[in-house]
Amino acid sequence: MGKGLRVWLWISILVGGLFSAAPLVAGDDYLGRGADGCLMCHQDYTAILRSPHGDGAHPHSPFAEGQHSCESCHGPSASHLGRLDDGSRPLTGIPFGKDHPIEAQNAICLTCHEQDAGHHWHGSLHNFAEVRCADCHQVHKAQDPVMSRTGQMGVCLDCHQQQRSDMHRPSNHPMRSGQMVCTDCHTPHGGAGPAELPRLSVNESCYDCHAEKRGPFLWEHAPVAEDCTSCHRPHGSNHRDLLTARTPQLCQQCHLAQFHPSSFESGAGLPPHGGSSNMVGRDCMNCHTQVHGSNHPSGAGLTR
Ligand code: HEC
Ligand code: HEC
Ligand code: HEC
Ligand code: HEC
Ligand code: HEC
Ligand code: HEC
Ligand code: HEC
Ligand code: HEC
Ligand code: HEC
Ligand code: HEC
Repeated sequence: MGKGLRVWLWISILVGGLFSAAPLVAGDDYLGRGADGCLMCHQDYTAILRSPHGDGAHPHSPFAEGQHSCESCHGPSASHLGRLDDGSRPLTGIPFGKDHPIEAQNAICLTCHEQDAGHHWHGSLHNFAEVRCADCHQVHKAQDPVMSRTGQMGVCLDCHQQQRSDMHRPSNHPMRSGQMVCTDCHTPHGGAGPAELPRLSVNESCYDCHAEKRGPFLWEHAPVAEDCTSCHRPHGSNHRDLLTARTPQLCQQCHLAQFHPSSFESGAGLPPHGGSSNMVGRDCMNCHTQVHGSNHPSGAGLTR
């Protein structure tokens, strides 16, 4: 903006201010002077012009012909340039921040992004918990961190501390190395399944990458077909293979009465002096190697 234009703008604002000093917060008018009308005071907010939102050639960009520039998101804000009787500055039309109505903040984004947020957004836990679009998205950065695989985890883990500690357990999905990110399993705008998973069930979501566990098997292991999380913790575990408990205790949670020793085995002593071979090495897995299911004609015991 040239210096002459800047001076002219200042004059017009000061003059305009005389006429618009009344508190116009509700039903405010658009300032309608393009980005420069705001940037003359908010010089630090130009990065958005280098972001996807700043692409004025995109017909729906806030900065495109016929849109309201900064006020496409901030709402009609003419009175924001004046003062109230107490000398304070009226807020912009749609004030952002946790202290202001969150539904209105998200609604302004949804006027352009209803399709992108998808039809699960309105039923999502993030929506119910009043998480704002702006809690995950930083529109005033040239590059929104949550949109890149390297930046996303930091955003999610800021709020999800339990998952932060889980993924640091010795057995984990490779998220710490950046090989995997939260959205490989979750849809942040809401999903069809439980816990914002993209598929209707936990298992369907796991099969996306672990297809070999889907079967069908001649000899199924009931809990596997039902829910992988009856034995696995998806974010991380202190036990090998993301298991919820170590074997054989894991197996013994469901299997006590069986044809070999049915008593709960504590691990006291080692065979042959009192202990059981079921407790040694890979314990139950020494024999029941096909714990996810077997296609062997005589694999009923999941041993082959
Ligand atoms: C795509 C929507 C969008 C557009 C366009 C936009 N903003 Fe923002 N702006 C936001 C959001 C959302 C926040 C709140 C960020 C937060 O709460 O973390 C914000 C925050 C701000 C703030 C800081 C408010 C505070 O509390 O510190 C200023 C100042 C601001 N915007 C100015 C501008 C200016 C100037 C323009 C035009 C160049 C502009 N904005 C265009 C969405 C937008
Ligand atoms: C004449 C200078 C001036 C102009 C022009 C101006 N602002 Fe501000 N704006 C301020 C000041 C000063 C504050 C800080 C207010 C405070 O701390 O009381 C502010 C605060 C804000 C805030 C945070 C509080 C709120 O109201 O939500 C946003 C967002 C904002 N301005 C956006 C805009 C937008 C959008 C425009 C253009 C329509 C604009 N400003 C034009 C001076 C200006
Ligand atoms: C006036 C319409 C409009 C409004 C209002 C709007 N956006 Fe956008 N937004 C766009 C357009 C256009 C794009 C670029 C889309 C494209 O390139 O396909 C975009 C892109 C985005 C992207 C993708 C950015 C990227 O890095 O790829 C995100 C995230 C986004 N907007 C979030 C928001 C949020 C959050 C708000 C509310 C604070 C908001 N938008 C308000 C029009 C809008
Ligand atoms: C919990 C964090 C989170 C919240 C809340 C959130 N988003 Fe997103 N959004 C993301 C992530 C992560 C992506 C990256 C795409 C992906 O991997 O699914 C994204 C992508 C987008 C995109 C790019 C287009 C696309 O679908 O990939 C737009 C536009 C967008 N979000 C708009 C919104 C709007 C509007 C809201 C509020 C109604 C919102 N987002 C709320 C995390 C969030
Ligand atoms: C390998 C897939 C996978 C990845 C990667 C993943 N999750 Fe999950 N997440 C799940 C599954 C499956 C559930 C449902 C757990 C259940 O029902 O016991 C879940 C549940 C959750 C829950 C609900 C609370 C809970 O623990 O049951 C939150 C919150 C969550 N995930 C956040 C995250 C975050 C944040 C990230 C990234 C750091 C992430 N998840 C990465 C699969 C994953
Ligand atoms: C501003 C804080 C915040 C951010 C950032 C955030 N979340 Fe959440 N998330 C929540 C809240 C609050 C809930 C509601 C349920 C709860 O309290 O755990 C939730 C719920 C979830 C759930 C469903 C939990 C369940 O119990 O079924 C998943 C999955 C999830 N978030 C994943 C993500 C992912 C992935 C990201 C990053 C793209 C993310 N969240 C970013 C606050 C946040
Ligand atoms: C987006 C792909 C993806 C999805 C979805 C996925 N996983 Fe994984 N899983 C991986 C990758 C990658 C590894 C690491 C493989 C390696 O290191 O060789 C892995 C490893 C594992 C391991 C072995 C961990 C170890 O300590 O070696 C288990 C168990 C596992 N996944 C279970 C699950 C379960 C249960 C689900 C569903 C909740 C699931 N996975 C969903 C990609 C995925
Ligand atoms: C009844 C408990 C149980 C259930 C349910 C279960 N698993 Fe496992 N899983 C195990 C055990 C035990 C191991 C360790 C296997 C070993 O030591 O040979 C394992 C290992 C794995 C591994 C890593 C080694 C390998 O075989 O690739 C993956 C991946 C895996 N499970 C995925 C899944 C998926 C996906 C589901 C749901 C379809 C599932 N598991 C359900 C008990 C279970
Ligand atoms: C969540 C409960 C649960 C867990 C944990 C579990 N199982 Fe099972 N298992 C079942 C059910 C239910 C059946 C089917 C029983 C039936 O049909 O009578 C079954 C069947 C079996 C069978 C075949 C039994 C037969 O009747 O032929 C074997 C072998 C087996 N499980 C071994 C294991 C091993 C080894 C582990 C530990 C890695 C384990 N199970 C963990 C619930 C569980
Ligand atoms: C030394 C090998 C071995 C070990 C170790 C072992 N099993 Fe078995 N188990 C067998 C054999 C062999 C069968 C009979 C399989 C068949 O019918 O084909 C069997 C059968 C079973 C059955 C089905 C019983 C029935 O009534 O049909 C279950 C359940 C079972 N084992 C669970 C376990 C659990 C839990 C552990 C660990 C605590 C374990 N097994 C350790 C060899 C072993």
